[in-house]
Amino acid sequence: MALTFYRKYRPKTLADLVGQEEIAEVIRNAAKADRLAHAYLFYGPRGTGKTTTARILAKIANCETRAEDKKFHDLGEPCNRCRPCEEIDSGRALDVVEIDAASNRGIDEMRSLKEGIKLSPTSYRYKVYIIDEAHQLTKEAANALLKTLEEPPEHAIFILATTEYDKLPATIVSRTQRFNFHKASLKMLVDELQKIAGAEKIKTEKPALELIASSAEGSFRDAEALLEQVYSFEKEVTLNGVESVLGKVGLNKTSSLSRQLLNGDLPGALKFVEEMDESGANMVQMTKDLIQYLRRVLALSFDPNIISIFERELTEEELKEMQEQAKLIKLEKHVPLIKSLIEAYSNMRYSPFPIVPVEVAIVENLGKENSKS
Ligand SMILES: Nc1ncnc2c1ncn2[C@@H]1O[C@H](COP(=O)(O)OP(=O)(O)O)[C@@H](O)[C@H]1O
Ligand SMILES: [Mg+2]
Ligand SMILES: [Zn+2]
Repeated sequence: MALTFYRKYRPKTLADLVGQEEIAEVIRNAAKADRLAHAYLFYGPRGTGKTTTARILAKIANCETRAEDKKFHDLGEPCNRCRPCEEIDSGRALDVVEIDAASNRGIDEMRSLKEGIKLSPTSYRYKVYIIDEAHQLTKEAANALLKTLEEPPEHAIFILATTEYDKLPATIVSRTQRFNFHKASLKMLVDELQKIAGAEKIKTEKPALELIASSAEGSFRDAEALLEQVYSFEKEVTLNGVESVLGKVGLNKTSSLSRQLLNGDLPGALKFVEEMDESGANMVQMTKDLIQYLRRVLALSFDPNIISIFERELTEEELKEMQEQAKLIKLEKHVPLIKSLIEAYSNMRYSPFPIVPVEVAIVENLGKENSKS
């Protein structure tokens, strides 16, 4: 495999960006009107398209087809075929400088930036500086950057990217046009994974992709990397395969166990846990997922509207199941159950037999209703 998925499938146009439509629209309109800003700030969680969008913007600013063809210009997109577009895509563009503030906190780079910025671009219209993890810049580097942002030369565009907006100095923030990148929903991630699997001719099971997507927590990059990781182990991406790579069980296993617990089915729940342990599932992770699941069911039982918060992270079937389970909640029984599971979770990490604390918690809570006397 020559390219890792996340590089190979990096969106090349604004239209290809998934889930960031408003950002794409604003940039496109600015491009049509030739009103690109001199400083942007892209912030939001990892793997949501900040670096990708920065490169697209660099291409838009320097695309030769845009400069020559009026009709194409008005699409507000890069052509991806001209020399600057190709050079920028392959990372060979001298006038597009990517600085990773995390690696050496940017002191040397900022110094050479301060000197280099006065010079015109060597062959492009704009010099574009992409400063990644901008919150990691040292004080001196940030000050140097601020000076430059106060009076940016006509030929320069700065794009700052960060996962930690709050750590950036307000003086810098206020000089930028800001875009907040959002986490991808479960559905967007599954769709993207399906697209890649289709292009790579990889056979997949839907629940396997859903588990990958749910573990990626809103990050396209993480989802794509996980898919690739699982694929390197077995040529078909099955739920079993994903479960063993992640040490995490499928979403519907967690919900089955939860249902058994809420129904007070002691033998069923014990058998289930036993079987999961036998199959090599990570008991600590399973308990954590279970607590998280029950917590949501509990919240739902109080406020059905809360479902809208979970919608982005769960499949439709999962949501329905969760709503059903919310009807089973009895506070006097299930709050103690969740408390016991939390206690089990903190004990099991130090236990030589992680299954025991969770079994005891289950017996303790369900034993009373099931006692045969
Ligand atoms: N909005 C998106 N739509 C489609 N794919 C995306 C999106 N955001 C990220 N990706 C995928 O994740 C990879 C990493 O994205 P990147 O832009 O580097 O994320 P960030 O800089 O926000 O951490 C991309 O190469 C692409 O494969
Ligand atoms: Mg990035
Ligand atoms: Zn071009």
